[in-house]
Amino acid sequence: MTLAYKNDELLHMVDQDTGTVDRRIFFDQDVYELELERIFARAWNFMCHETQIPTPGDFFMSFIGEDRVICLRDNDGGFQVLVNTCRHRGNAICRADEGHATSFMCTYHGWTYDLKGNLVGVPGFREVYHEELDRENWGLIKAAQVENYHGFVFANMDPQAPGLVDYLGDVGRIGLDLLAQRGEAMEMVPGVQKYTIPCNWKLSVDNVWDWYHAQTSHASAFQSGYGRPRARDAAVDLSKPPPPTDQLKWDQLVLLGEYGHAISGPLYGPDKQGPGIINEDWRERPQAKEALGSVGLKSRGHPNIFPTISFLPCGLQPARSACASPRVPARRRSGGSL
Ligand code: FES
Repeated sequence: MTLAYKNDELLHMVDQDTGTVDRRIFFDQDVYELELERIFARAWNFMCHETQIPTPGDFFMSFIGEDRVICLRDNDGGFQVLVNTCRHRGNAICRADEGHATSFMCTYHGWTYDLKGNLVGVPGFREVYHEELDRENWGLIKAAQVENYHGFVFANMDPQAPGLVDYLGDVGRIGLDLLAQRGEAMEMVPGVQKYTIPCNWKLSVDNVWDWYHAQTSHASAFQSGYGRPRARDAAVDLSKPPPPTDQLKWDQLVLLGEYGHAISGPLYGPDKQGPGIINEDWRERPQAKEALGSVGLKSRGHPNIFPTISFLPCGLQPARSACASPRVPARRRSGGSL
């Protein structure tokens, strides 16, 4: 595509010395188009957790940039990520957000694809196409790479991209392990909450590790009791209002990794500062200690796996922000909390 900006202009939109950003990164359509091409088409995008599609034929609809993709379990038990657009004339072949299928038949002219995206059915193959259509070349477009890290399934459209573990690096891996290491096995409970927020995707993501806003934006939550020590602690009198929060005095830990991964939030220390409603005993598990290391074990922050998967502090609500341009219709702007 033709660049509206020179590369050095783009670099100056974020000033790391002063900590300021040019607001065009949040609304300029040209910047957004570049992000689709340079970020979402090349990064590892979170699809779903493996427990959401446990058996062959189970599928979950996700996004890569603005493209809807079907993440599914094939008959070999592997994961496939298929672009949800028929190779004939581009109709969507699946209109459900999740479910179970043995194949996908396009409802326009009936082309049918198997669970690996192969074109296996063409109405009128003999009468219309005279058996000359090379069906092998007209399967669904697939993600070039699909990998699973501790149950989290990711896909990448770029065959040249580094593998998932390399992409995650230490910070991305710790970010996922802060959730994955909480027990022997993790399972997503059914049900997806979606919110449509009319903003650029970066505003949603950027807010994940902003702990400065909490005592103001979430003041009513803290006043209602969120954040007080957990109820099983006999020393806590839940009939009394909680003490005022002093989050701005908490020690913080910030981890910044390659490719944009970040974890930011309170330091989990000997005094176990911070919200007390969460059982943190899992940190004593040997597997957790080995996976997180001495630094990761001290984090009580919000991880964000670049570009769009993040976790809230209770550790039970992974959220995925779908791509969103200010000029893109609202139907494109679904974010999910799983
Ligand atoms: Fe799908 Fe024609 S568009 S079969």
